Amino acid sequence: MKQKHPRPFVVATFAMTVDGKVTTKNLSPVDFTSREDKLHLFRQRALADAVLIGHTSLKRDNVRLGLPAELQETRVRRGQSRSPLRVIVSNEGRIEDRLNIFQSNISPIVIFSTKRMPRKYQRTLEKKATLHLSNSRCVNLDGMLQTLCEEYKVRTVACEGGPTLFRALLELGLIDQLNLTIAPYMFGGAKAPTLTGVSKKFLPASVHCSLTDVRTVGEECFLTYRIKHQRSLRK
Ligand SMILES: NC(=O)c1ccc[n+]([C@@H]2O[C@H](COP(=O)([O-])OP(=O)(O)OC[C@H]3O[C@@H](n4cnc5c(N)ncnc54)[C@H](OP(=O)(O)O)[C@@H]3O)[C@@H](O)[C@H]2O)c1
Repeated sequence: MKQKHPRPFVVATFAMTVDGKVTTKNLSPVDFTSREDKLHLFRQRALADAVLIGHTSLKRDNVRLGLPAELQETRVRRGQSRSPLRVIVSNEGRIEDRLNIFQSNISPIVIFSTKRMPRKYQRTLEKKATLHLSNSRCVNLDGMLQTLCEEYKVRTVACEGGPTLFRALLELGLIDQLNLTIAPYMFGGAKAPTLTGVSKKFLPASVHCSLTDVRTVGEECFLTYRIKHQRSLRK
């Protein structure tokens, strides 16, 4: 898909079970991957200028989105900041400032949300992050990536989910690479989200994933795909 404006290269990293689930139906934090996979996620995060997360994953997993000291040093040697910019997306904007991410000042935090964010939250969050609040009901993800590119000089984004945000980006043709770990479990359950969430709807167009790398460590498989966007619509 040809882009009208320059935007960063977006790499999504996910782990899923053999039956395609990224979590259980309650969205409770589940630890189903190895130490190697966690390191893999850190390494991918360390490569990017910005790390992007949806509000639900941030809330559920309560992540700081930081990096181990060793990877911070690697970035410094490469001439990058110690840690990538941390970017949160939320339409409603009811983001609690007691979340772990706001207790760490490892890198600046940028929030893309809408004017639906209650004033009380705006007042609290603007002390801890830079807020970009749009007048629309939902965040314009294309516009968000352009802003990251133009105002923050972000060239690469590590998208860490969750599935709802990933699907929205995918539908807009804004995902360029997918790193997918297959973990040796099956969860079952129609209500447990897959990589593209719980929506029963087809994607507007099928997305062709071109396999560029396969690595196996222990019982886990680490796949890398380049995302191609096909024109034909599904019936
Ligand atoms: N296995 C893995 O690799 C992996 C990776 C990531 C996450 N997860 C799991 O996934 C679960 C959460 O997934 P999820 O799909 O429910 O949540 P999500 O994608 O992390 O977040 C959804 C929320 O993000 C905001 N959002 C999403 N799309 C948006 C858009 N287009 N524009 C603006 N804001 C948008 C909205 O926030 P508001 O509601 O605030 O408006 C939305 O409710 C968690 O259980 C987490 O553990 C697993």
